Amino acid sequence: MPEIFVTGGAGFIGSTFVQLLLDERPDDTITNFDALSYAGNLENLEGFDKRRHRFVHGDIADSKAVLAALGENTHAVVNFAAESHVDRSIAKAAEFLTTNIIGTQVLLDAARTRGVKRFIQVSTDEVMGSLPENEAAFFTENSPFAPNSPYAASKAAAEHLVRAAHHTFGLDTVITRCGNNYGPRQFPEKFLPLALSNALRDEAIPLYGDGGNIRDWIFVEDHCRALLLAMENGRSGAVYNIGARNEQPNIDVVQSLLDTLGKPRSLIRFVTDRPGHDRRYAIDPTLIEKELNWRPRETWESGLQKTIQWYLQNSGWVERTRSGAYRDYYRQQYGTEVGAL
Ligand SMILES: NC(=O)c1ccc[n+]([C@@H]2O[C@H](COP(=O)([O-])OP(=O)(O)OC[C@H]3O[C@@H](n4cnc5c(N)ncnc54)[C@H](O)[C@@H]3O)[C@@H](O)[C@H]2O)c1
Repeated sequence: MPEIFVTGGAGFIGSTFVQLLLDERPDDTITNFDALSYAGNLENLEGFDKRRHRFVHGDIADSKAVLAALGENTHAVVNFAAESHVDRSIAKAAEFLTTNIIGTQVLLDAARTRGVKRFIQVSTDEVMGSLPENEAAFFTENSPFAPNSPYAASKAAAEHLVRAAHHTFGLDTVITRCGNNYGPRQFPEKFLPLALSNALRDEAIPLYGDGGNIRDWIFVEDHCRALLLAMENGRSGAVYNIGARNEQPNIDVVQSLLDTLGKPRSLIRFVTDRPGHDRRYAIDPTLIEKELNWRPRETWESGLQKTIQWYLQNSGWVERTRSGAYRDYYRQQYGTEVGAL
């Protein structure tokens, strides 16, 4: 059975990807290698078929642990593992450098040692910086690197290392750059699940600056289907932008969430902007549409409905993630307890 080595598969997008592999590639077995940081959650893996899914607790920056877990019959490494929250990178960058940069190099080296056939690096549109507002400008695969946060800079560095492994050692690599994901199981420090879980409790929703920052939103399963295609049919050495042509200012995102839930817009509280906050991201996905025939399946409305349903049906998950590490972080970021803004 071909083996797929997924890193960070206990997190938001990684767990969705593993679920998709289990559902749609019945011949594959999956090793899910995850350090279980504050964002990793074994509850996300409940119900996965143990005969085809093996969880290994380990750090991608630890080469011994990676080599011990990575088999010689590995079809692909798909690297989701990362420190992924911009605000945390502004507060403290060290872990971003260790996991996102050193960790990626460790994985690349291990992939060569084990003769892995293909390496997929899950990157972000944020490596390309911020676009001007009110202009018909989009990120393409040829847009220059211009990362503006320590998180984005660490992801850009990781991309350079992947490119170098392809160019120098001939490793078969594909890099993907996606915009803002939303969907089930997203850790509720991120913008949309934070707004959603606060709204469900009639708690205030913090919104940075004037709320006019624009993001390009994609339902998480649509992102994962694009990754699956990139893994199966992507061109060696290629970079693919992944986006659903769904630009929205943050204020509109919160308002449509509140309207859908039947909650008052008065829950919105404008708070001091994030330092260096990128104004606009907008992705041109023409390349992946043409080369891999990928299209998103969900609209913004249908994806939002699915997301809201999941959070309503999984209040226990939300409660548990909103305690502990999440509470400490919230206190540090907003200077108050969860719900007390
Ligand atoms: N969330 C988005 O909107 C988005 C958009 C584009 C790209 N991405 C990228 O997708 C990937 C996954 O993002 P996510 O939102 O699911 O993140 P997440 O924070 O929910 O999950 C990250 C996972 O990585 C694990 N991890 C962290 N450090 C590790 C280490 N040193 N070794 C092994 N595992 C480790 C965590 O335990 C967690 O399970 C990231 O690489 C991120 O940069 C995310």
